[in-house]
Amino acid sequence: MKALLGLCLGLLVPGALAVAAPVAASDAPATAPRERLLLDFGWKFHLGNEWGSGKNLAKSGSSVGPAGVGFSDASWRVVDLPHDWAVELPFDQHADAGHGFKPIGNGFPQNSVAWYRRSFTLPSSDTGKRVWLEFDGVFRDATVFVNGWFVGHHESGYSGFRYDVTDVAEVGARNVVSVRVDASDVEGWFYEGAGIYRHTWLVKSGALAVAPDGVFVHGSFKNNTPGESARVDLEARVVNAAAAPASSQVVWTVLAPDGKVITTVRRPARVAGAATADVTGSASVAAPVLWSPESPRLYQLVTTVEVGGHAVDRVTTAFGLRTFAFDAKKGFLLNGRPYVIRGTCNHQDHAGVGVALPDRLQAFRLERLKEMGSNAYRTAHNPPTPELLDAADRIGLLVMDETRLLGSDAANLDRVEQLVRRDRNHASVAIWSLANEEFGTQGTPSGKRTAATMQALIKRLDPTRPVTYNSTAGNDRAGINEVVEVRGWSYRIGVDRMDAYHTAHPAQPNVGSEQGSTITTRGIYATDPARCYMSAYDDNQTEWSNTAKQWAGFFGTRPWLSGGFVWTGFDYRGEPTPYDWPCVNSHFGILDTAGFPKDNFWLYQSWWTAPAMVHVLPHWNWHGREGQEIDVRAYSNADEVELALNGQSLGRQKMAPFSELKWKVKYAPGTLSARAFRDGSVVAETRVETTGPAAAIRLHADRTQLRGDGEDVAVVSVAVVDGQDRVVPNANVPIAFSLAGPGRIVGVGNGDPASHEPDVFVVAPVMRARPIDGWRWNKIANPYADNIPEVAPGFDDSKWQTTDVRRASGPLGLNEKGLFRASFNVTAADLAAHAVELWFGKIDGGGHLYINGKRFAPTSDARTPSVFDVKALLHPGTNTIAVALANWGTAAGVNKGVELRLHDLPPSPAWSRSTFNGLAQVIVRAGKQPGSLQLAARAPGLAPATLPLAAAAVTPRPSVEY
Ligand code: GAL
Repeated sequence: MKALLGLCLGLLVPGALAVAAPVAASDAPATAPRERLLLDFGWKFHLGNEWGSGKNLAKSGSSVGPAGVGFSDASWRVVDLPHDWAVELPFDQHADAGHGFKPIGNGFPQNSVAWYRRSFTLPSSDTGKRVWLEFDGVFRDATVFVNGWFVGHHESGYSGFRYDVTDVAEVGARNVVSVRVDASDVEGWFYEGAGIYRHTWLVKSGALAVAPDGVFVHGSFKNNTPGESARVDLEARVVNAAAAPASSQVVWTVLAPDGKVITTVRRPARVAGAATADVTGSASVAAPVLWSPESPRLYQLVTTVEVGGHAVDRVTTAFGLRTFAFDAKKGFLLNGRPYVIRGTCNHQDHAGVGVALPDRLQAFRLERLKEMGSNAYRTAHNPPTPELLDAADRIGLLVMDETRLLGSDAANLDRVEQLVRRDRNHASVAIWSLANEEFGTQGTPSGKRTAATMQALIKRLDPTRPVTYNSTAGNDRAGINEVVEVRGWSYRIGVDRMDAYHTAHPAQPNVGSEQGSTITTRGIYATDPARCYMSAYDDNQTEWSNTAKQWAGFFGTRPWLSGGFVWTGFDYRGEPTPYDWPCVNSHFGILDTAGFPKDNFWLYQSWWTAPAMVHVLPHWNWHGREGQEIDVRAYSNADEVELALNGQSLGRQKMAPFSELKWKVKYAPGTLSARAFRDGSVVAETRVETTGPAAAIRLHADRTQLRGDGEDVAVVSVAVVDGQDRVVPNANVPIAFSLAGPGRIVGVGNGDPASHEPDVFVVAPVMRARPIDGWRWNKIANPYADNIPEVAPGFDDSKWQTTDVRRASGPLGLNEKGLFRASFNVTAADLAAHAVELWFGKIDGGGHLYINGKRFAPTSDARTPSVFDVKALLHPGTNTIAVALANWGTAAGVNKGVELRLHDLPPSPAWSRSTFNGLAQVIVRAGKQPGSLQLAARAPGLAPATLPLAAAAVTPRPSVEY
């Protein structure tokens, strides 16, 4: 496909022209033809590799199998994006532990390749427009076809890609996009999912337009310290797809966080034919409103391309005004002030949905981290989904934005460039990370040279942010650490490492790019290898990691380390450290896979937040352990905490920095309470109580008012409670769920690292195949003719020769032409099936297919089976197929079997999930219609629960219609 960006770099216009009279963005005529349409809904999906690559390397535009236009996907499942098929697979002990024991990749070819297809109409009004397909992320190895044309191949599962499909798209007609996804290879050592797991878009623009990722806006301040005004640098790359040169103007309009227009800047842009031009400008913003995690205020830049005073393209970009610096002595500085990074590292992976996170779930997760007091997020170990950064900009978290691999090969540099161009406008992105723990190369001269090349590229594309690398090299500067701007520390705390390194290299700033991590299981207070659980006390770490107290205490006294990112905020599938099967997910998280906090959530909160809080652990249901000592701990940001059991004080203790308080308490049922004091006054209280037996289910949604846009989700907590509505902390009860109203359940989870219950309940059509035999054939004059009498249903073929179509080759000799006929019966009940298809093992020869005398398809490539949707062509009773063929090779015909395939949809499955230590989660996705939804939960012996949700009528994001 055309790579417009690669054509050439036109003129570079330095400087700027500030226009006195500001023009509101909305004043410009609404003629800009750009449309960005979501292409997420209604994809057909099939797991299986029956058709090979789909490519036809011999002839253009004639891709085969599902990549072809005539192929029937009528029997395939319908899925909406984002979609992860790995999460739908059962667990398998023989699969890779790192990837969460999902049977995919090596050893599981049957589950590793899948196809997606989607068709749509482009209206005639699109004539003359450029048409692009954009994929934000496909895991992995995607081959994309449009209307039978191969349009591109993209390997990485973490970088987005786009193809200009203007030449092969049909305006005023149906178009079909086919995507083959091959998840046989891995890119990481953690669960990575499989499928089109990020958004997909259809983008239309005029011939003259802002290039993809073609806007760069960044604010700066004198001496990198916020002052009375900010300088805003503006860059736009304009692309001209037409042959003739274009004279245009780039108009930038800067809007303040309150939406008011601040200034407008215009620059001429003359773009040669089939070329791009980079245009630059700058503006001054007085009284800048600073962005920070505490006050995430965003400016907007509207970039308009005008020709003769008319807008021909427009894009809007959010950005923030703030300064970042990593200082070798003071550590990280935000807006000129020391600012401790309180971050977490995370994979994109959530209970129920795998890697396919709806946008709202990204925000849900960041909100949980913010509640803990976190102010930063590392996208370990790959470029994030764009909406994660949108949420971080909006909600307020600094981001360490990471590339997947170290490498200066062209493909990797291209991925790095693409990442920086895509993400450099985000207010939240504070630092780039070159790679993670490249054990084999990080200390070598080639590793150093490679890192230097990558860093230089990043700095050229974005001079505003520093670069780091997550290094395990300890007190060793050789290699990447020699060149990387900010030394990143992966674990390895200690005076002999960090202090010694800092003393030896005092000019290099530092950051704790990966720190912690305690291994814990939510609600478990005694490590239990048989069930694969770790105690939730902050006591256990791996050989290479540290508890929260250890790393935070060390960093807390060394501001030059800038703070750090804990491994991890959330548990994720895979890496079941320290266990193996049957454990299927990690224990590193401060929150579990569903986002339920483990006790360390409050430990970090006690260090990272100011409003007074106190947390006490464990729970107080220790039936059978009466009189025995229980290990009780309290986490608080107050000065002192007093513990009491059933009203009797057990003593008051002083809280030291980065620590916890401990009591040994003889168990008696009742109430264990804690009061926290500041300056002698009670500022916070909490309690844990012995509950009664499980009595009821309680449902609670993060939001009960949804947008009826087909995308919004409610994250519903399911709790098993006692007769007094208290969560029973050790209740593991299977619960059944059902949803009424416009929406559907998209996933269930509970945070149990050893649960093998399904996260997703899938309805896949079930096939009944009926061989079609009794074929006869005869030579005919011209199989391409429009009127072939022999195709008529009533034609008498009883004198023709019989032929066995199950054989591998047919009776037609070289240059012979013939017609093959057969009849079969169907009933009205057969035709009521979800899909009715004709399947041919091999149609060898050129010509056409007929049903009941009606031509319905040309023959396609003989190398793959052909599948046709014939539901509308059949009628109850006897039906006749005719295949008219010309043989240009040897021994052609209808071969390898013909089947009528009826596909039935089984009834919708019943969703269920057990609670784990009292809690489970249900994720409900709104439909596109407004209305009331009701989630119901039932379990034998418990009072059921219903949760009303409402989906409001909203204008959904523009999306591609069917
Ligand atoms: C780190 C690595 C992470 C994860 C973690 C487990 O070394 O960067 O991806 O594997 O160890 O402790």
